[in-house]
Amino acid sequence: MALMTLEEKIGQMTLFTTDWESTGPSIRAGYENDVRNGNCGALFNSHTVAFTRRLQDIAVKESRLHIPLIFGYDVIHGYKTIFPIPLAESCSWDLAAMENTASIAAKEASAAGLHWTFAPMVDISRDPRWGRVMEGAGEDTYLGSLIAAARVKGFQGDNFDHADKLMACIKHFAGYGAPIAGRDYNTVDMTERTFRDFYLPTYISGVKAGAMTIMTSFNELDGVPSSGNKWLLDDVLRKENGFHGFIVTDYTSINEMVNHGYSKDDAQAGEQAAIAGVDMDMQGAVYQRFLKNSIETGKVPMQKVDDAVRRILTAKFELGLFKDPYRFCNEQREKENIFTPANQQAALEMAHKSIVLLKNENNVLPLTNKKTIALIGPLASDGAQLIGAWSGAGEGDKCVSVLTAFQNRAKKDGFTLLHANGTDISGMDKKGFSEALAAASQSDVIIAVVGESREMSGEAAVRADLGLPGMQQQLVEELVATGKPVVVLLMNGRPLIIPWIAEHANAVVETWYAGTQGGPAIADILFGDYNPSAKLTMTFPRSMGQVPLFYNEKNTGRPYDPTTKYNTRYLDVPNTPQYPFGFGLSYTTFKYDSLQIAPLPPGGGVEFSMKDTVTASIKITNTGKRSGEEIVQLYVRDLVGSVTRPVKELKGFKKIKLEPGGSQTVTFKLTADQLRFYTADMTYKAEPGDFWIMVGPDSERLQKKQIRLVE
Ligand code: NOJ
Repeated sequence: MALMTLEEKIGQMTLFTTDWESTGPSIRAGYENDVRNGNCGALFNSHTVAFTRRLQDIAVKESRLHIPLIFGYDVIHGYKTIFPIPLAESCSWDLAAMENTASIAAKEASAAGLHWTFAPMVDISRDPRWGRVMEGAGEDTYLGSLIAAARVKGFQGDNFDHADKLMACIKHFAGYGAPIAGRDYNTVDMTERTFRDFYLPTYISGVKAGAMTIMTSFNELDGVPSSGNKWLLDDVLRKENGFHGFIVTDYTSINEMVNHGYSKDDAQAGEQAAIAGVDMDMQGAVYQRFLKNSIETGKVPMQKVDDAVRRILTAKFELGLFKDPYRFCNEQREKENIFTPANQQAALEMAHKSIVLLKNENNVLPLTNKKTIALIGPLASDGAQLIGAWSGAGEGDKCVSVLTAFQNRAKKDGFTLLHANGTDISGMDKKGFSEALAAASQSDVIIAVVGESREMSGEAAVRADLGLPGMQQQLVEELVATGKPVVVLLMNGRPLIIPWIAEHANAVVETWYAGTQGGPAIADILFGDYNPSAKLTMTFPRSMGQVPLFYNEKNTGRPYDPTTKYNTRYLDVPNTPQYPFGFGLSYTTFKYDSLQIAPLPPGGGVEFSMKDTVTASIKITNTGKRSGEEIVQLYVRDLVGSVTRPVKELKGFKKIKLEPGGSQTVTFKLTADQLRFYTADMTYKAEPGDFWIMVGPDSERLQKKQIRLVE
């Protein structure tokens, strides 16, 4: 650092996209010269060994101090092998599996010259209009925090000894998942208590798991945009939570503080960002253009720049780039490690675990002994959709579509497969209906593959109406009118609102975007080779008017009662969701015995102290004919608090596998630590008093017992 000029230091604080592809507005030309002149220390949207090696050459051979570049990319759910979208993966509730897919993504991406992924996205969101829910882990803070940590560990591993890991980047700090009305980039406004109880913990969990970087969000929080928010970045993140890595902005989010009305111009925005503690400016060139002057005129202390540069160079050292700038540029590994059969197998297994069975009337699924199957719908043949949004370097044409998977099955199992699209995803054309209905009328069962196109979720992909786009709803209605059994396969990046389908289809399967092996995974489930085990991590509302709808709401002073008027309710729809958080069916059935709480003190009610551990246990039996997995869930309600608490909060879960007739007692341990929250005076602690302990197969079908926490 002693050798560096101020310009070179600011160069390290500057990140630009290459012209390979764009993930935001306006590409800035001239990045190669910036690298050469020491004015840019990191690049994103550049991958493959050949491409990154050429740019690394410029940095290492042509710049004055030879400081290597970091290459970043949005490796969100895979690099070439694309896994199910993160929201889908979260429905597996399988932390080890999610860690594994992140580590495979890192292995592939690092073999293609990359050092850094802009993932995991850990934004909690309760609003399915927001298209970025596809990138997250759903609505729950507890589950989301565990998933954040698992993904960080998967991407980053323990070290970079083998150059097969990526630096993780927790994003988007903070509160980005709660924009008003679900509209991307919109204002976020919540109390500090809500922020700390429900939104902050996932980011901190990622930090504690060792994430080396974190990205600021586009939104404001309590009137201050994140990239200029000293309280958020310096006090909460660094001082309170001990974050030691570097902070990068989101794409031009320093510049956007002018639009927010927080900065009078880019120069002032840069000063506010630097003082707040932003280390690296993504794509905005604000630091590059103005920070030198701000230092020289004393508006920003030099210490801020030195701290930022030290953090960034430390990351480069930890990646091993000062020893060997090309250690992630290994042609051999690039050839051998990417899109391997083993990685396809992992993608298949993750897809199995991510698909949620929502309805299965009269066991119409799995499909057995069917002579003729009609596969209908625009998403059946369009395999490219399976990679979903934010699909890295994934290639749609490498996906195995549902149609192909069914054709392979038809050959093997000897049934007749009829196929017709019926309509487009979003077009208003009904011309294909007659062909679809003709196929349907000759079949024993109709499989309708419907949903959104992959561009309808992700960044800047907000929808105000969450029904099926185009004419797909009409198509399903006409298929149902044939009187044949109809299985609806949904493909989408967010909870959809499908009350008619939920009522009239015989079976409903939420497949999300299931990745490169999505088609075979879906076929395995439909034909019974895999028994569905996933459960929703986001509530499916019945009606748009209910949005945002989430399971951990408060009771209010007039709790819901559909039989009387003056309480918290709608006149035209019930308050209940279509499918609640935690819900998902299996081809087998599970019986829950009665919930036991221990220790049971003499005299009845269960009392425990701040130091005790309470044990909740329940025996589960597989009462069906197939082996199956069940996700058993533990919720808690704090009945009276110095501030009000949610009617239920997830505090534990266990995924168990049972053979037919088999049973297992599932045990949860609970201590006062797990009952902490931000109390009236904003201290984080558990308050003595009564609690409900609730256990069940989802957030609604719960058994409860009361316990008392004493000082
Ligand atoms: C904007 C997105 O909000 C962020 O998630 C992403 O990492 C960057 N663009 C870079 O592509």
